[in-house]
Amino acid sequence: MSKVNVPELAISDENLRDYLSQGIKRTEEFLEIESASPFNPLTEISQHLLLAGGKRIRPVLVFLAGQFGKPDIDRLAKVAAAIEFIHVATLYHDDVMDEAQIRRGVESANAKFGNTNAILAGDFLFSRASAIAAELGPHVVTALSDTLSVLCEGQIREARGAGNSDPIKHYLEVLKQKTGSLIETSASLGAYVSGADDVSSLALSNYAKNIGLAFQISDDILDLKGDSSKSGKMIGKDLVEGIHTLPVLSALSMDKDSSLKDLLQSVRKNPELIDSTIKKVSDLGGFDVAGIHLESLIDQAMTSLDLLKPGSAKDALVQFAEWLRSEEHTSELQSLAYLVCRLLLEK
Ligand code: IPE
Ligand code: IPE
Ligand code: MG
Ligand code: MG
Repeated sequence: MSKVNVPELAISDENLRDYLSQGIKRTEEFLEIESASPFNPLTEISQHLLLAGGKRIRPVLVFLAGQFGKPDIDRLAKVAAAIEFIHVATLYHDDVMDEAQIRRGVESANAKFGNTNAILAGDFLFSRASAIAAELGPHVVTALSDTLSVLCEGQIREARGAGNSDPIKHYLEVLKQKTGSLIETSASLGAYVSGADDVSSLALSNYAKNIGLAFQISDDILDLKGDSSKSGKMIGKDLVEGIHTLPVLSALSMDKDSSLKDLLQSVRKNPELIDSTIKKVSDLGGFDVAGIHLESLIDQAMTSLDLLKPGSAKDALVQFAEWLRSEEHTSELQSLAYLVCRLLLEK
């Protein structure tokens, strides 16, 4: 049984609200049915995170993008399920790589079942995405496999570090690949399966590309400033892992006496230094700079929307972006999707 919370939609257009609500329900059905393996342990491990919650941001984008063509709920739900499967599979693998203990408010799959099981369940979820994509035709298969290649490149790029290149440039490139790619594809495939025109498809892709970057930047801010009970993840995890995200990189460029640099070294072995490291990042203005980047990406996303026909779907996309801009977002992770639709899935 899925624990995805889907309360009532904050969208004034009742038809769109119902459509999204039905679409997400249909997606959840696909996710549950398609993740069932004849081998029960595989079902248990694979459904552990899949049904533990999650914001379903990518499915919501699929359905909203679909409104700019002739939306077919079943085809959109299949795209949404394939994308969510890929997303969750990457989370299984990401948590192994990042040695994360908590995800979606529950034990990570690696913490609960061990790395071997988590890796294999991730592979299984990729296979389920492929099976669904195959039903939707070669364009969808190619788009998803190309997206996954880019996502892997981003993850490896992050793991290898910036080397001699500019760290902020490297960080932004990583984000575009590891997060932006799948979010952009959510919008472009939603538009594609609905037969949206070229101008709308391009506008939606550009919008989602910028939203994807903004989303990961705010996720990175929340890793330092969020509330674990809301995010379902550990605060300061990136610091302990030695991953330096935009607030830290920006602060480092102003760290004249190397005190932040020293703290960043020490916090890896002493998690009790997390709070003082975050304070130092804040004092050096790291969060302010990250906020400026976030703002600029949201502006660019909004500009892309100019090319879309007016209506409630476009309004929802504006809200989606606005929510990332709001102060609330830095204190309230759950969620982008909740802004657009607070549905309640009762299954
Ligand atoms: C988590 O994605 C990984 C990132 C790309 C930041 P989400 O924040 O969309 O995770 P869920 O699906 O809601 O758990
Ligand atoms: C996750 O990136 C991105 C992918 C799974 C591709 P992070 O490692 O930064 O995200 P969280 O913080 O674990 O969700
Ligand atoms: Mg991670
Ligand atoms: Mg990671």
